[in-house]
Amino acid sequence: MNNKPFIIAAPLAGYTNLGYRRFLKTFGVDLTVSEMISDFALIYHNKETLNMVKTSLDERPVALQLFGGSKETLLKGLEVLQEVATYDYLDLNFGCPVNKVFKNNAGSAFLKKERRDELFETVQAIVNLSKVPVSAKIRLGINEDNINVVETCKILEKAGVSLITIHGRTKAQLYAGKANYDYIKLAKEAVKVKIIANGDIDSLSKAIEVLNYTKADGIALGRGILGNPYLITQIKRYYEDGTILKDPTLKEQLEYLKQHYSLLKETKNVDRAIIEMRGIAPHYLKRFTNIKKYKVKLSMIKNEDELMSIIDEILFDESIKTII
Ligand SMILES: Cc1cc2nc3c(=O)[nH]c(=O)nc-3n(C[C@H](O)[C@H](O)[C@H](O)COP(=O)(O)O)c2cc1C
Repeated sequence: MNNKPFIIAAPLAGYTNLGYRRFLKTFGVDLTVSEMISDFALIYHNKETLNMVKTSLDERPVALQLFGGSKETLLKGLEVLQEVATYDYLDLNFGCPVNKVFKNNAGSAFLKKERRDELFETVQAIVNLSKVPVSAKIRLGINEDNINVVETCKILEKAGVSLITIHGRTKAQLYAGKANYDYIKLAKEAVKVKIIANGDIDSLSKAIEVLNYTKADGIALGRGILGNPYLITQIKRYYEDGTILKDPTLKEQLEYLKQHYSLLKETKNVDRAIIEMRGIAPHYLKRFTNIKKYKVKLSMIKNEDELMSIIDEILFDESIKTII
């Protein structure tokens, strides 16, 4: 059994903002990562981006994630980041498959075979400039014919990163198919730097299976904890003393939902928090039946009163059952 794996809340653009990160901290996560931050937006002191890089003491340690298409702009962006933000790790995004990002040579475009030397030089320069340890988030490669994750890990290790999170898919796969843990296992065997396994980990049993198989130093959880933050506590506790904590009840899930909202509200204005909750709240009802109409209602909430009254309605609806 792996000894106390490192548990990371994976970066999710549109979700892992300050409020959500502080919320996840209460479940015992070891590290949270911000949404991806554009080097150009930093260079131009984009107001929204300067807001995005704000952190709070009670969420530390926290990583801020940077993306960009060239060594020069990444370094310039980092200079600004170091002036304006307080954080513990710098994470580099070499995994984003989105076309707009890829076309600008950023994200997973750094995994192209012809950019190996550039990847090394870029990361080495960033490690030299950074005041905090640097980590990287990667995919298996550009597509199935170009899987180069072991080589990428060796390059990143030589360039000085202290941790690598591997999402077990290629760029071409986007989020389709299943994450492949075979290559994560191979990468772990090939380097000394800490390897974090990522992709499709959505239960305690899956976490145990992936950790046992890959021998990774930890796991990063993205969609699996969205609406199920207690999974973090379940995994932490299991690796502390072998206890298998029960899944949360509907009542507990609704309590977490309220806490999530209340922390979003603290850092965003109420209207913005409500808009975000439309996408987030239905996730809290994933494990229950006869719940569809409430999911629809939650996805259309207009204000806090509506959110709270739907939560009450759900709480007193005896037709709702837990999916075992
Ligand atoms: C909505 C969404 C936003 C994401 N944003 C980021 C991001 O900003 N930076 C990043 O490195 N990965 C991002 N990812 C990828 C996740 O961090 C993670 O690698 C992927 O979702 C697989 O893990 P999971 O199955 O645990 O979600 C995003 C994924 C989703 C679904």
